[in-house]
Amino acid sequence: MLMIDLITKKKLGQSLNEDELKFLTEGIANQLIPDYQITAWAMAVYFRGMNKDELVAYTKAIIATGETIDLSQINGFSVDKHSTGGVGDKTSLVFGPIAAACGLKVAKISGRGLGITGGTIDKLDTIPNFKSDLAIIDFIKIVNKVGMSIISQTTNLVPADKKLYALRDVSATVDSLPLIAASVMSKKIAMGADLILLDIKCGKGAFVQNIVMARKLARLMINIGKAFNKKIYAIISDMNKPLGQAVGNALELQEVILSLKNKGPSDLKTLVSNLVGLALLGAKEVTTLVAGINKANKMFTSEKPLEIFYQFVKNQGGDTQYLDKIDKLPTANYIIKVKAPATGYLIFTNNYALGELSVILGAGRTTKTDIIDPIAGIYLKQVHGQKVEKDSIIMELHTNKDQYFHQQFLELAFTTFQITNKKQNIKPIILEIIM
Ligand code: URA
Repeated sequence: MLMIDLITKKKLGQSLNEDELKFLTEGIANQLIPDYQITAWAMAVYFRGMNKDELVAYTKAIIATGETIDLSQINGFSVDKHSTGGVGDKTSLVFGPIAAACGLKVAKISGRGLGITGGTIDKLDTIPNFKSDLAIIDFIKIVNKVGMSIISQTTNLVPADKKLYALRDVSATVDSLPLIAASVMSKKIAMGADLILLDIKCGKGAFVQNIVMARKLARLMINIGKAFNKKIYAIISDMNKPLGQAVGNALELQEVILSLKNKGPSDLKTLVSNLVGLALLGAKEVTTLVAGINKANKMFTSEKPLEIFYQFVKNQGGDTQYLDKIDKLPTANYIIKVKAPATGYLIFTNNYALGELSVILGAGRTTKTDIIDPIAGIYLKQVHGQKVEKDSIIMELHTNKDQYFHQQFLELAFTTFQITNKKQNIKPIILEIIM
C-alpha cells in the first residue's frame, strides 16, 4: 500500500477502507509516514470530510495504536467530561468536586493548553508539587478514595492522535470536524468511563464558531460514541465571551475555589449544574434533568465539594496550603487597568483576541516548549452586557512582561469589547443539550 494512493483517494472525495485506515494510523504512530504526507491527507480530509462508517473505522484504528484503560475497578458510576476548549474554561475543576459530592466517580484525563485555549493540567500545575502523571493504578485508587482524579495524557493512550494533533496544529487542519470528533472520541473511548459528557464550546473563542457547526460536531461525536456502545451526552455552550471572570492559571484557580464556596460567577455555576445534572441522569440517580440540576445546585451550598477538591489535590501530592492562601498570593509585577472609554453597555466582541491577549501576557503558549507564567492573565471586572460608567475598570491585565510591551497589550485589549448605547440581548451560557 502506498500513502500517496490514500492521499489521492481522499483528495477525490472517496472513503478509505479499514485496511487503509490501519495502514495510515499505524504509519503515523510508528513514524513510518513522513509528516508532509500526513498533513496532505489531513488537508484532504479538511476539504472532503469522512462518511459515517469511515469516521467510526478511523476512530477504531487510532484507538488501536495504543493502550486502552480498564476502569472496571472503579466502585461506582464513572464519568469522563471533556470540553472542546475555550477561554477561561475551568469547568472541569468545579464539575469534578460537585459531581463527586453527588456520589459520581469522576475519572478524567486532561490536556495542557495550546493556542488561545487553556488546559486543565496547566491550571493544576500552578499548585506546588501537584502530580498529574500518575500510573493508572494510582489514578483509579484516588477516584475510589476521593471521588475524582484528573491526570495528564499517558504516552501510550492513542499515540497516533498525539502525533497527528501536533501536525494539525501547524498545518491549519485543527478545525476539521471529523478530525476533531475522532481525536476527542478516540481518547474518551480508550479511557472507558461509563458516561462520556461533552461540552462543545461554540463562539469566537472556540474551534467551532457557529451553532450549525457545533450541532454537526456533537452529532459526529455522539454517532461515534454510539457505534462503540457508549452512553454519551453533549452540551453546546457559549464561548463568545470568557467563562467566568478569570482567564489565566492561578487567577482561574482562585475562581474555582470561590465557585466551590458558592461565590463564583453565575455562568460557570449554570454550566456545571447542567453537566452534573446530565451525569446524574446518565447514572440513573435521578429521573429528570431538572432533578439532576437541582441536586447539583444544592451541592454548591455544601462544604463537601471543597473538601473533595482539597483531598484530590492532597492525594496527588499538591500543597493544599497554597489553596488556603490562594486569594492572598503574590500578584504579578504589573496590573494594567483597562478603562471604559464611554458610558454604556459592555459587550465582549472578540473572545479570540481576549484569548490571544492572555497568551501574550504570559498565561499561555504559542509553541509546545513555551513556559507559562502561572500568575499572568486577565481579570474581567465587569460582565458581558452590564451597564458601565466612563472610566470604570473593565478588566485588569496581570503580567510580568516588561513595560515596553504594555502599550501593545492595551491596544489589543481595546479590540476585545465595545460600549453600546442600547441594551443587548445576552445569549444564555447553555445553547443546547443533545442526548
Ligand atoms: N481537542 C482534541 O483533543 N482534539 C481536537 O482535535 C480538538 C480539541
